[in-house]
Amino acid sequence: MNYNCMNPFTFTLPTKVVYGVGAVAHVAEELKNAGGTYPLIVTDKGIVKAGITGKVLKLLEEANIPYEVYDGVEANPKDVNAEEGARIAREKGCDCMIAVGGGSPIDCAKAIGVLLAHHAEYIKPYEGKTAATLPNPLLITVPTTSGTGSELTFSSVITDTKNHYKMTVKSPYTAANVAVCDPELTLTVPASVTAATGVDALTHAIEGFTATCSEPMGDAAALYAIELISKNLVKAVENGNDLTARSNMLMGSMLGGISFSHADVASVHCIAESLGSMYDLPHGTCNAIFLPYVMEYNMEYCKERYARVATAMGLTWETVEEGAKKAVEFVKQLTKDVKLPTFASLNADPKDFQKLAEMSYKNGSNGSNPRPMEVEDYVKLLEIVYAAK
Ligand SMILES: [Fe+2]
Repeated sequence: MNYNCMNPFTFTLPTKVVYGVGAVAHVAEELKNAGGTYPLIVTDKGIVKAGITGKVLKLLEEANIPYEVYDGVEANPKDVNAEEGARIAREKGCDCMIAVGGGSPIDCAKAIGVLLAHHAEYIKPYEGKTAATLPNPLLITVPTTSGTGSELTFSSVITDTKNHYKMTVKSPYTAANVAVCDPELTLTVPASVTAATGVDALTHAIEGFTATCSEPMGDAAALYAIELISKNLVKAVENGNDLTARSNMLMGSMLGGISFSHADVASVHCIAESLGSMYDLPHGTCNAIFLPYVMEYNMEYCKERYARVATAMGLTWETVEEGAKKAVEFVKQLTKDVKLPTFASLNADPKDFQKLAEMSYKNGSNGSNPRPMEVEDYVKLLEIVYAAK
């Protein structure tokens, strides 16, 4: 087997994890212990409607903690959302944030933190891995979906609305101080969102495990994430009230987040982010559509690793080739079982494929794909997946 223990790496996990059924009850105490006094609650209208934001607000009120709410975060969070949130935090004098929601509010809160830390109005100059150089204000994340892993990652993906693409602000300074991870908060997530976010988490783990910059500690997290997600996603989709499946999915997404934030994502995310920014499509759905096909493309470059993915999925195999192929087939079947759509059923236009391919190629994670991907390879892949049933 091709292990990677001879490569040097660093591993930092700056976020305290408070995990468990009912863990949200600790949110006020964690805020106080970390020194926060006046939080901006960053959330979205769907989470408010589901009653989850209200639950957090009630806990703050019971602890006599004053707060402000910014619930304007959109799906595929926009630069203008982060800039609006930062203006509110400044005007009101908030000294910390609590992000309540899926990846969109959490990524938005991280970007708001970058703006506050740097006394800046616009997020664009902080794109990339080196531009954010000051510690963000205190951030507590309260995830309500099992997918993004953003509660534990060091990056914030924000849509640049002028140039219509997703930019990444990647810095250890964006990491949350505390992640309060309560599986009960994920019970109300609809089946279609459970499916899409769950495959996003699986993609994080598979791409993290096979990225050119993968390392052994992230690999360990990735393999356990793959096991948990493979064995629980269908159950969580079919019965949203299955708290065991929901708990296993939340842990799977957290571990997937640890994996890819220490390694990277790769070509599946490059395409998903291009599609998401061009058509405002759900991130997880885009990943689910492309994951098995990118795995097929990568096959010759990371067969052994895909065979280990198959083992984590609970599959048995005789040869590495067989194991790797079984992993791809498992993903194809899984996306069908949880009823995710085909590429052709979305509103993507083949006329845009060249542009999408160029955007994917320019994505900062393109170089992390185990097999090099050129613009023409992305075009070919888009055509193959568009023609697939
Ligand atoms: Fe993702």
